[in-house]
Amino acid sequence: MSKQVYNNLGMIVAMGKNREIGYNNQLIWRIKEDLTFFKNTTMNSHVIMGRNTYNSMPKNLPGRQYIVLSQNKEYTLEKPKIVCHSPEEVLKIISSNPTENFWVIGGGVIYKIFLPNVSSLWITEIDSTFPLADTYFPAYNEQEWTEQSCMEKSENNLIFRHKCLKRVKEQEENIR
Ligand SMILES: NC(=O)c1ccc[n+]([C@@H]2O[C@H](COP(=O)([O-])OP(=O)(O)OC[C@H]3O[C@@H](n4cnc5c(N)ncnc54)[C@H](OP(=O)(O)O)[C@@H]3O)[C@@H](O)[C@H]2O)c1
Repeated sequence: MSKQVYNNLGMIVAMGKNREIGYNNQLIWRIKEDLTFFKNTTMNSHVIMGRNTYNSMPKNLPGRQYIVLSQNKEYTLEKPKIVCHSPEEVLKIISSNPTENFWVIGGGVIYKIFLPNVSSLWITEIDSTFPLADTYFPAYNEQEWTEQSCMEKSENNLIFRHKCLKRVKEQEENIR
């Protein structure tokens, strides 16, 4: 898989202290503010997700164009949603549309595949652990990222912060 970094590709995730992201194909918490943050960040962009995440969503995300990954060649979705059968197919779409924004929105398998390709990483860090979790964000090297902004908030007795990370300069020779 290519390690090319794309300026128009970001990743957005909410995770617990142990990088927990899901349980039983659902989110483990309910934080309304984070759903609004997700909506505002991804609005008018393409959202890239795995088939499990697509199936886990209770409703369509208006104002966003879907790219869903599945290895099943028979799997189709109604237009304008796009099904891609390989990460390379997705990267081709991203590089052919350099003026459009793309966000990788999960889940665990898809985050791991595209982490080397994203130029920004928006993390909602929740200050709690979730022992029930069965899906995790991949380990990432914090040295490769620089923090641009951070806002701390709380809801439903959960403290969380939105962190916007950009890939550090030394890696920019790879950036397209
Ligand atoms: N906390 C958060 O921010 C957040 C965000 C999103 C999701 N989640 C959670 O994450 C969990 C789902 O994550 P997950 O890891 O189980 O699944 P996923 O990453 O959403 O999707 C995995 C699926 O993607 C397809 N896929 C994987 N590799 C592929 C490849 N190389 N080429 C083409 N297709 C490929 C396969 O679909 P086929 O089986 O059809 O081949 C695979 O089953 C849920 O609990 C969800 O709630 C959390």
